[in-house]
Amino acid sequence: MGSPDIAILGTGSYAPEKIVTNDDLSQRVDTSDEWIFSRTGIRERRIAGENETTSMMAAAAARHALASAGVTAADIDLVIVATMTPDLPMPATACFVQHLLGVPLNTACFDLNAACSGFIYALDTAWAMLASGRYKHALVIGAEKMSTVLNWKDRTTCVLFGDGAGAIVLGPARGTAKILGTRLYADGAHTDLLCVPGGGSNVPDPSADPSGPQRHMTMKGREIFKVAVREMEDAAREILAQHGLVAAQIACVIPHQANQRIIDTLAQYLKLPADRFFVNLHRYGNTSAASIPLALDEARRAGRVKAGDTTLLVAFGAGLTYGSALVRW
Ligand code: ACO
Repeated sequence: MGSPDIAILGTGSYAPEKIVTNDDLSQRVDTSDEWIFSRTGIRERRIAGENETTSMMAAAAARHALASAGVTAADIDLVIVATMTPDLPMPATACFVQHLLGVPLNTACFDLNAACSGFIYALDTAWAMLASGRYKHALVIGAEKMSTVLNWKDRTTCVLFGDGAGAIVLGPARGTAKILGTRLYADGAHTDLLCVPGGGSNVPDPSADPSGPQRHMTMKGREIFKVAVREMEDAAREILAQHGLVAAQIACVIPHQANQRIIDTLAQYLKLPADRFFVNLHRYGNTSAASIPLALDEARRAGRVKAGDTTLLVAFGAGLTYGSALVRW
């Protein structure tokens, strides 16, 4: 007997109330709306409240996903939170989410860090666990409080990111909907292109201020741009070929929402019209692991994802990690 088909049963998202525009940022660092928008496509981003944690945002997105799937917290037996900004180094943010939602005790709860590719990694992991027949309904969440790892004095990074969360419920397929496939990649030769240098076990100066510069993300933007486009193209082409599909058969592409120019270049390489890509980064900036599920939820609610359609998800992130997924609705 083959493995059971697994499908996305529902989606949900959450964005903090506070909007920070490019003009607001130009009061803090030497930048402008014109520079940020023309280089990235970002107009504004959401920033979480001081006491609003990654798990709170994750739980809010998950509640919407549960309602959209028509299942309750009691039906969930697997919670994976993809995040690089957990509430605490330990325990896992997924355990906080479990408690906030009232998910039963016989549930596997863990975090997964693949930076901006985290949601695709978590989707792949949850899909495999459900397909094994040992778990039935999973909450797969991408949630980030990126504002806590940004250096708000560094104009080259602080303008790019935002906070938020997105979630899906995965479960036994109903009708035509199912996960068709996923592909994950990593290139550990490029860990230096994007990283938070302190806070882990390899901290050059253990006495460093816990909120000091080593806790801030550093990025080699130009290099990332070039690698990101190539990696996303490879991840898209290889999964399409594996499933005997061509790009033109994809109704909607949900790319990682890092930069409009990266998405436009990818569209050119895949020979797809720009309007085939769902983009909401102008309102949220780059929300890392939250970006794809947040965009997926908005795309579904905007009617961009319809029964019978095939959607391509494609991401890249620190690691460098990258990956893709094909979803039938
Ligand atoms: N406002 C004004 N000027 C700025 C700003 C800013 N916010 N940031 C940088 N500049 C200046 C630089 O200092 C530089 O000035 P100089 O020429 O006097 O030295 C100039 O603008 C050009 O800087 P570049 O870095 O060369 O600008 P570039 O055109 O490459 O755009 C950007 C920078 C937008 C970061 C681009 O490289 C990019 O998008 N890279 C991909 C980054 C990315 O997507 N990162 C996250 C992905 S991974 C993940 O999602 C976790």
